[in-house]
Amino acid sequence: MKRYSVIGNPINHSFSPKLQNYWLRMNKIEATYDKIQLKENEIKNFIDSVKEQKIIGCNVTVPYKKTVINYLDKLSSEAEQTQSVNTIVFNRGNLVGHNTDIAGFNTAIKNLNYSMKNKKVLILGAGGVVPSIIFALKKMDVLEIIISNRTKEKAKGLNTLFSDLNVVEWGHLPDFDVIINATSLGLNNEKINLDFSKVGNNKLFYDVIYNPSETNFLKTGRELGNKTENGKLMFIYQAFEAFKIWHNIEPEVNNEILKLLEND
Ligand code: ATR
Repeated sequence: MKRYSVIGNPINHSFSPKLQNYWLRMNKIEATYDKIQLKENEIKNFIDSVKEQKIIGCNVTVPYKKTVINYLDKLSSEAEQTQSVNTIVFNRGNLVGHNTDIAGFNTAIKNLNYSMKNKKVLILGAGGVVPSIIFALKKMDVLEIIISNRTKEKAKGLNTLFSDLNVVEWGHLPDFDVIINATSLGLNNEKINLDFSKVGNNKLFYDVIYNPSETNFLKTGRELGNKTENGKLMFIYQAFEAFKIWHNIEPEVNNEILKLLEND
């Protein structure tokens, strides 16, 4: 049986197997997709097994989206520019790294019917998914991207990949049209220690987190009269693009899929 996997650490929370196995069944493809928790020193061996095609393809999640690049032969231009790989495929003797988080975010925003053009966007966090979000936002012609991260140096580090980023202190809330939570705060119902009370309304509050479906961040945004959206569609569409790369089929995104990703 053909085997696909997602690797990361931790990995237990990952909904990728549910989604990919559903699509495999729907498309009558004889294959399985599982999750594997790896330590950093186990990554090389794992990637070798993809090169040997014991594993046909894999997804990569936190914290290895950059690490895996060391073991790949080629990168798509988007993976190269973000230094972030979430999908690996073996193609004509080469291990190729792709970044489908960008397309995932892009499709999610398109689905919202929200125009990012000339908007001021504040991103909270500077972790693994942030380069992909910045890349997508720049293509959408936003006016300004402001980054605020607890560890300021990490936010500044993003300047090596992108020009014109404005880095502000954590705890400071500058004026914005769109605010994106790309921190892990909220996964366990934590509150973000920022004072949103003077933010006002008519903004977009976007959370990369989709489980819980409404984080405290989104709840606060909603109660202040803002538009809110969680990361569910971004997650589904990054998986959609990976499925397309491996199987050359566009899988169906339907209500059942949306339900699959609700809490276990
Ligand atoms: P990684 O940083 O390994 O890529 P991630 O889940 O992609 O992991 O990113 C976690 C993000 O949440 C980071 O931006 C992190 O901030 P630091 O860079 O300062 O670690 C942020 N984060 C996690 N816990 C936080 C907390 N208690 N307060 C503020 N930010 C937090």
